[in-house]
Amino acid sequence: MAFLKPVLCPVVCLCAWIITAAVTEDVPKAENVHWTSLDFKTILRWESKAMMGYTYTVLYSRAGADWIEHIDCMQLSEMECDMTNLLRPFNRTYTADIQTEHVEMDYNHDPEELTHTYSPEFNPYKQSNISAANFTVHIVNKRTVAVNITDPLTGIHENNKQLSIRDVFRKDLKYKISYYKSGSTGKKDIVSDSSVTEVPNLDTEEGYCFMVAAFIPSRPKSTQLGAWSKQLCVTGPRTFLHELSVGVWVGAVAILLVVLVIIIAVTVLCCRWCRRKRNDQVETPQALVPR
Ligand SMILES: *[C@@H]1O[C@H](CO)[C@@H](O)[C@H](O)[C@H]1NC(C)=O
Ligand SMILES: *[C@@H]1O[C@H](CO)[C@@H](O)[C@H](O)[C@H]1NC(C)=O
Ligand SMILES: *[C@@H]1O[C@H](CO)[C@@H](O)[C@H](O)[C@H]1NC(C)=O
Ligand SMILES: *[C@@H]1O[C@H](CO)[C@@H](O)[C@H](O)[C@H]1NC(C)=O
Repeated sequence: MAFLKPVLCPVVCLCAWIITAAVTEDVPKAENVHWTSLDFKTILRWESKAMMGYTYTVLYSRAGADWIEHIDCMQLSEMECDMTNLLRPFNRTYTADIQTEHVEMDYNHDPEELTHTYSPEFNPYKQSNISAANFTVHIVNKRTVAVNITDPLTGIHENNKQLSIRDVFRKDLKYKISYYKSGSTGKKDIVSDSSVTEVPNLDTEEGYCFMVAAFIPSRPKSTQLGAWSKQLCVTGPRTFLHELSVGVWVGAVAILLVVLVIIIAVTVLCCRWCRRKRNDQVETPQALVPR
């Protein structure tokens, strides 16, 4: 059979090559690879035209460093992987590479030969979206309102503690506080370094409405501002003049008018009566004059 060897070998090789080529060429690539990240909970998602029979393995790398695999993101049958706990440290730029594997593929396959798609770059510290914060407001005095913001919690747990965005951003975290006087449209913004602060130079008898948003000036412009909170309004205790409603004012003016009319009427009547009386006194002596 030795004479067959030279013939068989190229045929076998050719067949093996065809099979490999067929497998890698037909394997659909991951498409539309994108990061979704809210409060540092970061999920990598993708799409694929593949039906059954394929799995995905995510490799990721910190700019310039080696590719890393993690058991949580290997041979996935779903088209997403939660990378919240893998992208450490936060303040680095990462790239992921999604490899599509045929279920029947030899796992020791050369990774270079696998069908794969790179993700866009992602830096959690600079790009994770920040949700709206809860906050309270209360009046300190006639001129000042205190704003107390609760830092939103992140998806990161460390030492059994769920970190807040303050734990992650520290000094880089500011808040933008936007407010306006009730009934006016002019909004004002202030930036606060801390989560508990006071807004000065108000006239609290008028009432004000407030909104807050996390603000990270060290980030690129497009991701500096977190989501705006809902609006909260306060009105200070009112002094006597403010207490009077429009109705009361109208009533008071009406009463004043009535009083004024009465005074004028009385004065006019009085004058007429006085004049008549004087005329009577002038006439009476005449009447006494004998004809
Ligand atoms: C952040 O939110 C914006 C607006 O909703 C969205 O377009 C963007 O994809 C989000 N970014 C991430 C990383 O989730
Ligand atoms: C993260 O990067 C920003 C911008 O490069 C820098 O201002 C900030 O100090 C860095 N923070 C940390 C914790 O490395
Ligand atoms: C701010 O609010 C938190 C929780 O609502 C509360 O524990 C804290 O004492 C408040 N701080 C101030 C200064 O009012
Ligand atoms: C704000 O408070 C509500 C109810 O107390 C809670 O469901 C929500 O998760 C809080 N939001 C943040 C960002 O902490």
